[in-house]
Amino acid sequence: MSNEQWLQRSRAAVWHPCTQMKVHEQLPLVPIARGKGVWLEDFEGKRYFDGVSSWWVNLFGHAHPRMNAALKNQLDELEHVILAGFTHQPVVELSERLGALSGLGHAMYGSDGASAVEMALKMSFHYWRNIGQSQKTQFVSLANAYHGETIGALSVTDVALFKDVYAPLLRASITVPSPDWRLAEPGESAEAYALRCIQVLEHVFAEQHTQIAALILEPLVQGAAGMGMYHAVYLREARRLCDQFGIHLIADEIAVGFGRTGTFFAHEQAGIKPDFLCLSKGITGGYLPLACVLTTDVVYQAFYDDDVSRGFLHSHSYTGNALACRAALTVLDIFGSENVLASNQLKAAHLNQCLKNLDTHARVKNFRNLGMIWAFEDALGRGGRWWFEQALQRGLLLRPMGNTVYLMPPYIMNDEEMVFVAQVIMEVLEL
Ligand SMILES: Cc1ncc(COP(=O)(O)O)c(C=O)c1O
Repeated sequence: MSNEQWLQRSRAAVWHPCTQMKVHEQLPLVPIARGKGVWLEDFEGKRYFDGVSSWWVNLFGHAHPRMNAALKNQLDELEHVILAGFTHQPVVELSERLGALSGLGHAMYGSDGASAVEMALKMSFHYWRNIGQSQKTQFVSLANAYHGETIGALSVTDVALFKDVYAPLLRASITVPSPDWRLAEPGESAEAYALRCIQVLEHVFAEQHTQIAALILEPLVQGAAGMGMYHAVYLREARRLCDQFGIHLIADEIAVGFGRTGTFFAHEQAGIKPDFLCLSKGITGGYLPLACVLTTDVVYQAFYDDDVSRGFLHSHSYTGNALACRAALTVLDIFGSENVLASNQLKAAHLNQCLKNLDTHARVKNFRNLGMIWAFEDALGRGGRWWFEQALQRGLLLRPMGNTVYLMPPYIMNDEEMVFVAQVIMEVLEL
């Protein structure tokens, strides 16, 4: 069947995410037949470099031989079993290994990023209630934050396009200024600006800490804000203030975990540990839906009781799915055996070299890179859709956000592929 047939059937039968479906009267869907490495291929053999890692989930490319083999083996052992009252090898091993990596533990699972955020918010609130502080019901989040689209996660999200229409359904959260350095005054350093934002946070905490359960943030990079990057001093100071005022720190590493910012977890760059760590996306290397929340012994112990209602009775049917856990274990195996973080450093240096003209290019604003994330704004304001179409024609899949063009490639891209990506970006820029 041709591309055209697949996209017609898809438009008729599938309600695509994050999409005004009428847009596809003019903008064709891209039907994908198969993937291999960094490449996606349509039904007529045209290839696209997956520059967004299939919505920031893919780490080691499509159809990775080691991932595929591990999943095939797991399939023959156990695909899934209820996790309430039962357990299995992949979920135990994964929980132990994520605990060792994060210094947290008591891994609780869900299926998508938003479900991890829901769990962390509920756990924080319930913790305070269990220790007799049931007035702590408020959450603080950053301006331009994105934590997902379910009702609870959307309450701590600050993207008007996704949020405003649902405002009557949401509970109000306290929004504090974003430390994103693009918002700094001219001449103000990223660090100075982050510290100025901390002063506001301190003020909010000082006034309302008796009502505040937790601060939730995306460490170092606010992804959906257009890859807004900020100085690690904000995290360090936020941790200090959370300790000072008795407020939980929830690190949403759904997009930035698993090496994306250069360290395994982004919060490591501030030398801190959150009270709750939300993980998803890269956790399975982009293979299967899985989310996880890790927390401290202190939190866990506050739920451990003879009274059932003091327990965390949250659940999802696919909690701890064995195939997804096996995919996640294989991701950790690859990190362990292939020195991924060190090799990513070399790759990032190479891609920066290929993109070096962007830094000073007249048509580029705010060129930035952290780990395996690159972003800039188009100074001519040519917009996301224009960039998407131009890059796609040239075999590069980008999904710009507003005027922000970004790259979040799979880690396994080789030198030749990096040159290709840089060439396409330079070519589109010059149009
Ligand atoms: C920081 C962050 N949190 C939460 C989510 C929500 O994850 P999901 O789309 O899997 O529900 C996302 C998704 O982009 C995200 O970037």
